[in-house]
Formats: sequence, structure tokens, C-alpha cells
Amino acid sequence: MKIKFVLPLFILGLANIVYGQSDFKNLKVLDPKIEESELKLLMKSYAKSLGVKCTFCHVRDAFHKDDKEHKLIARKMIAMTAGIRADLKEIFPKKDLSEKFNCAVCHAGSADPEWAEAHLIR
Ligand code: HEC
Ligand code: HEC
Repeated sequence: MKIKFVLPLFILGLANIVYGQSDFKNLKVLDPKIEESELKLLMKSYAKSLGVKCTFCHVRDAFHKDDKEHKLIARKMIAMTAGIRADLKEIFPKKDLSEKFNCAVCHAGSADPEWAEAHLIR
């Protein structure tokens, strides 16, 4: 009786160690269990949206470190973008808008979008 119950749990636990765990150490706004392939796609999209390299936000070969101000701002931006997505979903439940709203909508290939210089930052 006991063995029947424990064995599947043990196998599940092993599978989790082998397949389920990511190596990421310092995810505070993204899902800490995110797949590596998905995280890579996301990071590439951030870089492309802002027209920057990974090192704009990251210390080379130490992606978990929070040494760069840009990374700290990006973390807030990720949370802000998720919030806007959630609002869009609530306002337009039938339209597929929330998935399409991302960094590029505002940044359009620039870390310092021109419209922000012109209208917001004085
Ligand atoms: C605009 C800023 C920005 C750019 C550009 C960027 N990242 Fe990130 N990256 C972040 C932020 C913010 C986090 C942490 C997210 C969190 O806290 O959930 C992160 C997390 C990571 C992590 C997880 C590290 C850990 O162990 O916690 C990896 C790996 C990573 N980025 C790789 C990359 C790569 C590779 C590129 C270039 C293709 C890249 N990043 C470009 C902002 C950026
Ligand atoms: C609703 C519009 C909007 C969205 C969406 C948005 N941003 Fe921003 N972001 C801004 C504005 C405005 C600034 C300030 C630009 C400036 O300093 O001229 C900014 C600044 C930044 C900066 C600092 C740039 C610097 O030069 O210091 C980073 C990094 C950044 N955003 C990352 C992101 C990431 C990553 C996403 C997507 C997860 C994102 N942003 C989504 C509007 C937005």
C-alpha cells in the first residue's frame, strides 16, 4: 500500500529534477519555472524591441546578476506590460489584443523612443 503510493511520487520527483527544473536563479517577475527555450525567445524579443544587445541589461556570462540599472528598469517594465495585457483582456475579452501588446508597441526598436523624449521626459 505504502509503496504503491510512494513510487509514483518518487518517479514524478525524478522527472521534475531531470526535465522540469530550470537553471535560472533570479527570476522575480517571470515564471521561475519558465522553459529555457521560452526564456530565450523572450530575451531576444526584449533586445530586438529596444534595439540593444543582451549586455544592455546583463553582465556578460552572469545573467542572474542585478548589476545593471537597465535590468532593474526592465523588470518593472515587464510587470507593467503584463498589467496592461491583463487590463486589455478585461476590457476586450473577445479580441486577441493582450497577446499582441508587448515592449515593441512603445519602444519600436529604441531604448529611448523619440515620442518619449518629445512628450514625456523633460
Ligand atoms: C531590456 C533588458 C534585457 C535584455 C536586452 C535582455 N534581458 Fe535577459 N533578463 C532581463 C530581466 C529583467 C531578467 C529578470 C527577469 C525576472 O526577474 O523575472 C532577465 C533574465 C535573464 C536570464 C535568467 C537569469 C537567471 O538565472 O535568473 C537569462 C539567462 C537572460 N536574461 C538572458 C538574456 C539573453 C541571452 C539576452 C540577449 C538575447 C537577454 N537576456 C537580453 C532583462 C533583459
Ligand atoms: C506603455 C509603453 C511602454 C511599454 C509597453 C514598455 N516600455 Fe520600456 N519604457 C517606456 C518609456 C516611456 C521609457 C522611458 C524612455 C526614455 O527614457 O526616454 C522606457 C524605458 C525603458 C528602459 C530604460 C531605457 C534606458 O535607456 O534607460 C528599459 C530597459 C525598458 N523600458 C524596457 C522595457 C521592456 C523590456 C519592455 C517590455 C517588457 C518595455 N520596456 C515595455 C515605455 C514603455
